[in-house]
Amino acid sequence: MLAACSSDSAKEESGDSDAKASDGGGEGKVEIFSWWTGAGEEDGLLALIDLFEEKHPDISVENAAVAGGAGTNAKAVLATRMQGDDPPSTFQVHGGEELNKSWVAADKMQPLNDLYEANEWMDKFPEDLIDLVSQDGNIYSVPVNIHRGNVIFYNKKVFEDNGVDVPTTFDEFFTAADKLQEAGVTPLALGDKESWTATQIFENVLLGVLGPDDYGKLFKGEIGFDDPRVKEAAEKFGKMLDYVNEDHASRNWQDSGQLVANGEAAMLNMGDWAKGYFVNDLNLETNKDFGYVPFPDTDGDFMVITDTFGLPKGVKNPDEVKEFLTVLGSVEGQDAFNPLKGSIPARVDADPSQYDDYGKDTIEDFKNANLAPSLAHGSAAAEGFVTKANQAVNIFVTQRDVDNFIEALKNAAGEL
Ligand code: GAL
Repeated sequence: MLAACSSDSAKEESGDSDAKASDGGGEGKVEIFSWWTGAGEEDGLLALIDLFEEKHPDISVENAAVAGGAGTNAKAVLATRMQGDDPPSTFQVHGGEELNKSWVAADKMQPLNDLYEANEWMDKFPEDLIDLVSQDGNIYSVPVNIHRGNVIFYNKKVFEDNGVDVPTTFDEFFTAADKLQEAGVTPLALGDKESWTATQIFENVLLGVLGPDDYGKLFKGEIGFDDPRVKEAAEKFGKMLDYVNEDHASRNWQDSGQLVANGEAAMLNMGDWAKGYFVNDLNLETNKDFGYVPFPDTDGDFMVITDTFGLPKGVKNPDEVKEFLTVLGSVEGQDAFNPLKGSIPARVDADPSQYDDYGKDTIEDFKNANLAPSLAHGSAAAEGFVTKANQAVNIFVTQRDVDNFIEALKNAAGEL
């Protein structure tokens, strides 16, 4: 019942990209702003809201979700509200530069060190993750999850029926893709109606070609975009695009996932929210209907995407918002949210038995992996660079001009 109510309120707002002014929470109410609405997105959030409402029946929740993968619409709505001093009680923001270079730099966030101390969280979240949400010794948000971005999800039956080996390197990928194409199957599903999905493929190719250390240096400005390996990555990315469905520009990420689910396409590179979508919305079974493998040449690496929530300055009832953040950061909260969302818990002491095989494997992988911050999902670079990178990728997908693409990235580097 509660879930249904929350879900309805999310849907009311979802199509509305310049959302109506909200009262932004207030006494007895917490307004949660995110882009988790609809299929493949909202189940985890609704479970977390249910848990919070159970623990705090005196505080009501306004689920202010604005539809659009990767925050395509939500981020613009949030920016307008923050600039107009009308912050939501708390909002979804990726750990890393999206938090630090936008909202912390603009002095819009409250430090949460006291909340971390009160809950004894300092050793409950991985140090790398706390670093991503910290600036100058202050911690500015609470991670609810860790998504992995360098995953290829694949249709098991399509691979088996066509006698194709699941690829782990770029060479194997292209061999498999040729065989699948000959068999009349689209090798790689893409839905880049919103261009972040293509940017996500490109960042994974960069990780595969440069490795995690040099991938990181690229966004710190320590390696230039004119490095020959970036060109090599652009060429590989272009070659991968030769194997995608023709109608990619009219599909969103869920629509591209459907192609793999129904066997029209063999593989999908998507963050593991796609796992949530496959299981919860399309009723597929992990390791039976679909399998998963790291993106080519990135075994042992982990493209980190972390959704976090903080406390904006100017919120009228910070203590109630902290109650919500406390539930979100608790083992119980993380284990209510993440099995449904497809992500792994951000906490190191969550209960792995709550997760399916994919979740258990990913929890293990994370422990020993080389971590890389996602560009498409806000951790690697400031919003200004991400916007320009998405534009450059979008043009590249149509034009396939490697030199223009590199030039555009070089020009965008000023925004890093
Ligand atoms: C990411 C976000 C995920 C998921 C995805 C698709 O940016 O971190 O939680 O929602 O977008 O919208």
